[in-house]
Amino acid sequence: MSINTQPTTPFEGQKPGTSGLRKKVKVFQQAGYLENFVQSVFESIGDFQGQTLVVGGDGRYFNAESIQIIINMAVANGFGRVLVGQHGILSTPAASCVIRKYQAFGGLILSASHNPAGPDEDFGIKYNISNGGPAPEKITDAIYAKTQTISSYKTLTSPVQVNLSKIATSQVANMNVEVIDSVSDYAELMQSLFNFDAIRKLLASDFRMCFDAMHAVTGPYAKVILQDMLGASDDSLMNCKPLDDFGGGHPDPNLTYAKELVDIVYGDHAPDFGAASDGDGDRNMILGKHFFVTPSDSLAILAANAKTVPAYKHGIAGIARSMPTSGAADRVANALGLDCYETPTGWKFFGNLMDADKVTLCGEESFGTGSNHVREKDGLWAVLFWLNILAVRGESVEHIVTEHWKAFGRNYYSRHDYEAVPTDAANQVMQHVRSQFGSLKGSMLAGRKVQTCDDFSYTDPIDQSVSLNQGIRILFEDGSRIIFRLSGTGTEGATIRLYLESFEADANKQNMDAQDALAELITASESISKLQEFTGRNKPTVIT
Ligand code: G1P
Ligand code: ZN
Repeated sequence: MSINTQPTTPFEGQKPGTSGLRKKVKVFQQAGYLENFVQSVFESIGDFQGQTLVVGGDGRYFNAESIQIIINMAVANGFGRVLVGQHGILSTPAASCVIRKYQAFGGLILSASHNPAGPDEDFGIKYNISNGGPAPEKITDAIYAKTQTISSYKTLTSPVQVNLSKIATSQVANMNVEVIDSVSDYAELMQSLFNFDAIRKLLASDFRMCFDAMHAVTGPYAKVILQDMLGASDDSLMNCKPLDDFGGGHPDPNLTYAKELVDIVYGDHAPDFGAASDGDGDRNMILGKHFFVTPSDSLAILAANAKTVPAYKHGIAGIARSMPTSGAADRVANALGLDCYETPTGWKFFGNLMDADKVTLCGEESFGTGSNHVREKDGLWAVLFWLNILAVRGESVEHIVTEHWKAFGRNYYSRHDYEAVPTDAANQVMQHVRSQFGSLKGSMLAGRKVQTCDDFSYTDPIDQSVSLNQGIRILFEDGSRIIFRLSGTGTEGATIRLYLESFEADANKQNMDAQDALAELITASESISKLQEFTGRNKPTVIT
């Protein structure tokens, strides 16, 4: 083997977030750019000589090319084995599953999640550690520091091209490259968790479902699991062919971007159950006939019904939710005598809690739900969890949700996103709200008393690491909340997320439209932030 040292292209000073590095494809295609990041990862993760690296992605444009680059660099840097999904495909949860199952040193996941794909769109890469979860901040900080200083990377003098289309093992210098089935390890894990017999019976009955893979990575997973293993009919799966530009779409499963599915479940011949996942398969949206389940409610309902699922039949250890996620799960935890953790936004905060067996289920309002079966959120897992509950309870989605509200109360909830606003305007909004903390405390706003307001901070109960400034909270005495937070994942300007929540215990008042129920809080949030004035926007880009 002969190793070549090549110059890298430095980054222009932007710190890769914990969801990895996301940039336009054209940026990644610059000679030495991807290589800079990969070499920086390899130099920041400790001694992996002879160990296993997992590689795969969501199939977007530049996926296959980047995998060849990584394989050549992995050999030159001394990995002993690379496991790569066939055709370069691994959904994010499947990559997490494979890392754990084969006790890999870590994995490189190629995705920009739900961001559009194609030659002029986004690409992304992130590193996951041996527990299968995203690298913690101290590793991502070290990677970032390296990207700023390294000037060369290691690869093979005569690059090899591995055939990714065939499941096979080949030897490249001192390293084995194993092209593995992208789906089977993950499918086996799902089968070990859920009651497949009950789901199969449900799908064989007159129950109708519709799953939308949005031309992204979950297509092949849905075909094998929902169709081949569970008997879902062909016409219950849509957009299941992964395309390298996601068919020109924006595969983010929410009411705005999954419009095709939403129109079906709100249409005349609506199925009993609808679901979608995102670009890399970690998000989920759950719908019933003419009915939308908020992700916050979904987490609470999964927790309340966990014992219907074989894997959780003895109960769950605890629940974690991100701060902006509604308090619906807290009410379930309280009723079950479980701990409920409130973490900053981002899946990585759940990993420590799961590794320490403090929580089994976790979720975020942003359509992410998961459990300790892997260390990523998991879209198809949530779909199967719901199908398992529906099969066991034999009731409709709407019935299950409204019964849940009767039992635990309803947390009205909505998120308003203002995307791609100028960064200065976004900072002004946040500063303006902050400047009023003193006068807000104890005052009346939106017809209710403000208990307190703060910048949310979190001390990890396991490693004591502290995360500051994780969003502004206005907390009311009646349990309502207004939260302002700047997105950490946008690629253009800044995105302001406004999260609104109120609690309704009275079953007779639980059937309002969420925007109506939250109207006073929505008006109040404008008055305390001047958001629309600062940004010049008169309405949110996306409302969920
Ligand atoms: C968004 C979501 C967050 C999620 C992240 C990665 O981040 O809000 O819950 O963990 O994507 O999928 P944000 O853009 O808000 O920083
Ligand atoms: Zn995703």
